[in-house]
Amino acid sequence: MEAKTEDKRNNIVITICSTKGGVGKTTLTANIGGLLADLNYKVLLIDGDTQGSLSSHFNIVEKADGGLTNLVRNDGDPLDAISKTDIANLDIAISNDPDKELETWIAARPAGRTTLKNYTLQSLRPHYDFILMDSIGTDSPLQHTTVLAADLLISPIPPDVLSAREFKRGTLGMIEMIEALAPIGQLYGLVYRMENTKDSKIFANELTSETFAESKSRIRIIDTVIPDLVVYKNAATQKQPVHRLDKRATRDMCTLISEILPHLASQCDTFMEGK
Ligand SMILES: Nc1ncnc2c1ncn2[C@@H]1O[C@H](COP(=O)(O)OP(=O)(O)OP(=O)(O)O)[C@@H](O)[C@H]1O
Ligand SMILES: [Mg+2]
Repeated sequence: MEAKTEDKRNNIVITICSTKGGVGKTTLTANIGGLLADLNYKVLLIDGDTQGSLSSHFNIVEKADGGLTNLVRNDGDPLDAISKTDIANLDIAISNDPDKELETWIAARPAGRTTLKNYTLQSLRPHYDFILMDSIGTDSPLQHTTVLAADLLISPIPPDVLSAREFKRGTLGMIEMIEALAPIGQLYGLVYRMENTKDSKIFANELTSETFAESKSRIRIIDTVIPDLVVYKNAATQKQPVHRLDKRATRDMCTLISEILPHLASQCDTFMEGK
């Protein structure tokens, strides 16, 4: 089936962000992207982390010469920086900054953090329904670049009060610092890697009412909670999106997508029923 590129409802840029390492950004980016591609949307993943974990998450069948560096610098035709994965409808701009020069390049230019948003993505948007960006787990010029480029941001938050406070200080603090540069997209907080889902409602309420009381207008805590399940690791090992391996993961990823992209809800329901 042809991907729905002509469908003008979409064309949405989503960044998965956090200033904290190891919270699940790359896993989430890969799995949201993989599910949207299997829902038959044309999806571009951008590996916005110079460590390059997302770049090796899926099998690449056609490797481009360029990648992230070319997109951030708006250097050449952005389509030349895009590789193809073995998953239909799923392309990727891999991380290609082995000498770690990109952060310095961005920091040294007044428009360094907004070139991706204002130039490169403007020419890429018509080619994709969804562009999903992974980000680097530190408060740095590259993280600012990927955050500023998004229409919509999702931040995975580990389900404990200390991590929630760190999120507020780190990720929300960073967003407040850079919002003078460009308007910030809607930010969603996602309770991620919950070990006991029974406690999830309690934690989500705590997160919304206490920790984020004064930031309420800025952040919406998503009702869906992603559990800690070994299948997320297994899926990465097998280079597959997690919904292809596990029914519960299909349900969780579908309800997550329905919450952040409500216009896809009935399609997600049909997809879940078909599993
Ligand atoms: N829902 C989950 N359940 C269990 N393990 C998970 C889940 N999501 C991710 N993991 C595992 O947690 C580890 C960290 O995840 P991931 O690499 O996605 O985090 P990250 O935020 O991108 O880290 P970094 O900041 O280093 O880039 C990985 O080993 C991954 O397989
Ligand atoms: Mg990562």
